[in-house]
Amino acid sequence: MNDKVRTYHNITIVNEEASFLISSDDSILKASLKKEIPFCCECGGRARCSTCRILVISGEEHLSEANTAEKNVQRYFGLADNVRLACQTYVKGGSVKIKRIMNDESDYPLYLRNKIMGNENIGKEMRLCLLFMDIRNFTPFVEHHLAFDVIHVVRKLFYHFEEIIKEHGGRIVETAGDGLYAAFGFDQNAKESANNAVDAVSEMFKALEQLNETYFKKYFDQQIEVGVGAHLGKVAAGDLLLHGNPHQLVMGYPVNVAARIQDLTKKLNNNFIISEEVFMQLRYKPNAVHTVERLKGVEEPFTLYLLGEEFLYQNK
Ligand code: FES
Repeated sequence: MNDKVRTYHNITIVNEEASFLISSDDSILKASLKKEIPFCCECGGRARCSTCRILVISGEEHLSEANTAEKNVQRYFGLADNVRLACQTYVKGGSVKIKRIMNDESDYPLYLRNKIMGNENIGKEMRLCLLFMDIRNFTPFVEHHLAFDVIHVVRKLFYHFEEIIKEHGGRIVETAGDGLYAAFGFDQNAKESANNAVDAVSEMFKALEQLNETYFKKYFDQQIEVGVGAHLGKVAAGDLLLHGNPHQLVMGYPVNVAARIQDLTKKLNNNFIISEEVFMQLRYKPNAVHTVERLKGVEEPFTLYLLGEEFLYQNK
């Protein structure tokens, strides 16, 4: 039998001019959302962001102690003791007065409506294999071809690549000009996602070779080359509603690392480079050259494996 007695206390959120009774069973975030107070809560109340921050104005002694997860966030951001996470904080004693820290007028449509209506996937943390691909020497290509021919070439290439990525359980998250960003592992474990991503790149290189021979060289006098970088890590994946339609978002530090690895493909003169995290998951580990590199904007050095196109043919 649950011997905890539920109690109710008064809470005031000063910048909302809201005052109501809160149950000791509900976090401040949960109770506030029930009252349609548009709290930011990007991680869905799991102490994995800091967007639900509150400033405690009075009644600090009536709040639950910060748990380990909340203390980690407080430490990470160097937050003062009277700054708490609404999703982790409960009112246990008497009245409290708080202020919602992160807020502006766009919070209502952005956070409250979508979550209450249940039409936004607020996202979850996942270990994904992230892949960045870029067409090499794209600027001279654009310079010497008609704009719609350029679009045609990119469209044709990305169409083939998307099919291959989908067949290997991945999704294109973003395309930008001559590049694409894909993620693998939404429904797979880390090992499968890394192996599928590498297999997909192998297929993409083969498709590109064929397209070069039968199409790009033939009709546009152009040999297309790409550089690919891959990394595996924990990211936040969710949806953003744009024009009412869900748009996939995958964000986090590993995404930047994967993009930076791709940037190195030119400098290291190798068109497929993977991080050690991806390499260690491969069932077939090739005898690839590895190097330790500093990535732009990334503090620690990374061990990278230069697979290149050649490996992909040995892989079969
Ligand atoms: S909602 Fe992310 S920490 Fe509270």
